[in-house]
Amino acid sequence: MEVIKSVETMQNRARQLRHEGITIGFVPTMGFLHEGHLSLIELAKANSDFVVMSIFVNPTQFGEGEDFKDYPRDFDRDRKLAQDHGVSLIFYPEADELYPEDYRTYVTVEDLSNKLCGASRPGHFRGVTTIVTKLFNIVQPDIAVFGRKDAQQAIILKRLVRDLHLPVKILTAPIVREQDGLAMSSRNTYLSHDERQQALALNQSLQTAKKMVESGTRDSNIIIKEIRSQWEDKPAISEDYISVVDVQNLEPIAQINQPALIAVAAYVGTTRLIDNIIVNADGTDTL
Ligand code: PAJ
Repeated sequence: MEVIKSVETMQNRARQLRHEGITIGFVPTMGFLHEGHLSLIELAKANSDFVVMSIFVNPTQFGEGEDFKDYPRDFDRDRKLAQDHGVSLIFYPEADELYPEDYRTYVTVEDLSNKLCGASRPGHFRGVTTIVTKLFNIVQPDIAVFGRKDAQQAIILKRLVRDLHLPVKILTAPIVREQDGLAMSSRNTYLSHDERQQALALNQSLQTAKKMVESGTRDSNIIIKEIRSQWEDKPAISEDYISVVDVQNLEPIAQINQPALIAVAAYVGTTRLIDNIIVNADGTDTL
């Protein structure tokens, strides 16, 4: 497995691969890999010849007072995991090469970036769309894989690719969960034992919501209230949002008669966690 740190070397390698007719599958990450990240590698392998994973904790997507400095990092462990799972190349740049001091250019997807997580994390998606555009220009992938754990991110990135005619196809992969249902996240390492237990209510309440839709509930407010009520006896949980929105434009929907994203965000202690489920009117799960 190759490891490349420099932008120029990566661009040359990508050009060479494409010249040889080898298709590039790309898995962007911030590292501290878990099964969720590893599942993306499998989807990339199934849809390309050569899998590039990037590992870069992107400073521009963290707000002031967020966990950029504390974000967990372990490159040696990540390198072994990536190699064992068939990654061909890791792109592992330094922050000052991607963002030199006089860096001034940002890419924004309007509207979609201000909703849900964007409302409580101003500038977050501007950072994501900027780094992903840069990484696409560096890695030049044919396909790129993102997880539905970050459903809003995937929806915004699909819009970015469509609007800017970027020559890459976005694939999305299902949420990978711990055995007890908690969505895997690098941030789960911040949780105390007690918080970890209480955090299970996020997925449990979404499962209840799914069952309600399956058995005919259409009114989003009833579903939102039920989810909220399942968090109420969990003192560590404080709600950021519980929303039922359209999967294309992220606008709230009052009645679930079309594919809907039920998305939640909450602080569990001081750790911000997100989870979601996508339901059709018949309760099936698609994106
Ligand atoms: P990161 O949080 O490291 O996630 C990298 C990719 O893994 C994302 O596509 C995310 O949706 C996916 N992922 C994380 N947890 C998952 C889970 N439990 N199941 C399935 N997929 C999961 O998302 C980012 O990094 C950054 O914003 C990035 C796109 C790399 C830009 O900096």
